[in-house]
Amino acid sequence: MKFVKVITLGASLLIGTSAMAENHIMRLSHGETENNPTHVMAAKFEELVEQYTDGRIDVQIFGSNQLGSEQEVAQSVRTGSIESEILYTGNLVPLAPSIGVMMLPYAFTSTQEAHAAMDALQGPLNERLPGEAGVRVLGYLEKGFRVLTNSVREVKNIDDLQGLKIRVSKNNIAIETFRSWGLDPIPMAWAEVFPALQQGVIDGQENPYTTAVSMKFNEVQDFITEIHYLIWSGPLIVSERWYQSLDSDLQDALNKAGREAAEYGRANSASETEVAMKSLVEMGMTLSGAPEDEEKWQEAARALWTSFADEIGGADWVAEAGRLIADATANISK
Ligand code: MLT
Repeated sequence: MKFVKVITLGASLLIGTSAMAENHIMRLSHGETENNPTHVMAAKFEELVEQYTDGRIDVQIFGSNQLGSEQEVAQSVRTGSIESEILYTGNLVPLAPSIGVMMLPYAFTSTQEAHAAMDALQGPLNERLPGEAGVRVLGYLEKGFRVLTNSVREVKNIDDLQGLKIRVSKNNIAIETFRSWGLDPIPMAWAEVFPALQQGVIDGQENPYTTAVSMKFNEVQDFITEIHYLIWSGPLIVSERWYQSLDSDLQDALNKAGREAAEYGRANSASETEVAMKSLVEMGMTLSGAPEDEEKWQEAARALWTSFADEIGGADWVAEAGRLIADATANISK
């Protein structure tokens, strides 16, 4: 009997010790609905983090901009009042200029190139972003090329584009790129885009096919042009302050889960993009393919690259990132 008592005491001491290990809540914000690859990545990340940390980190997902617009939440991640977010690179650039090297128009011709670039840049970005923006990257999602949609007319060439009220994300690279094509674009938070399309405040927008489907843009848009100027890339960022407060085994678990969840999200996006494109056409949208004068669009936008250097981390960083991207993509066939 005495022996049993000792065992019981030992067991209760052990239980007491493990109950004292600190548990953490990790809110993960994003701006998409549940049928979008962003949410698919978020859900995978939640599953993996809880598995790799034995439940010591409880990931709680808040989609559809519930916690605020992508740019607002990025500010909260910086201060640590929200732990993490998945967002479009273009919505992080104003806070974290160095990540803008992924935003140069027509820099990538395939998703494979974008993956190689994102993977090569993640380490170097994590040397820069904590100081620049109070955040670090755990994984990098890609969702295919951004395509232009509008409700007014088929855009087959740069002349058809003129006069359209097109919304762009709130960063100078997007704004200047559309200006180079002769437009005065309307920068607007992502959360406001659907109602603005519905009310006719804007005629069009640009985002990947999967987003056009998950946002039901076919209800308010009629025409699609594959302008292919930019691939949607978006990091899963975590607050540096919060990350540094964690034990190193938890940090390792987050890094592993972030990389794996990004791979999973990219694969989901690859399989859903074609399906999304077909379903938009089936639902009545007119698909024009690439503009017939695509070289004009490319020439105008590429001419801006050097003028963007200061907004994307400065000339030295742009040169370094350019070398890393060139090495990483060298063996990918065009
Ligand atoms: C935007 O256009 O602001 C983004 O692409 C929205 C998103 O994060 O999907």
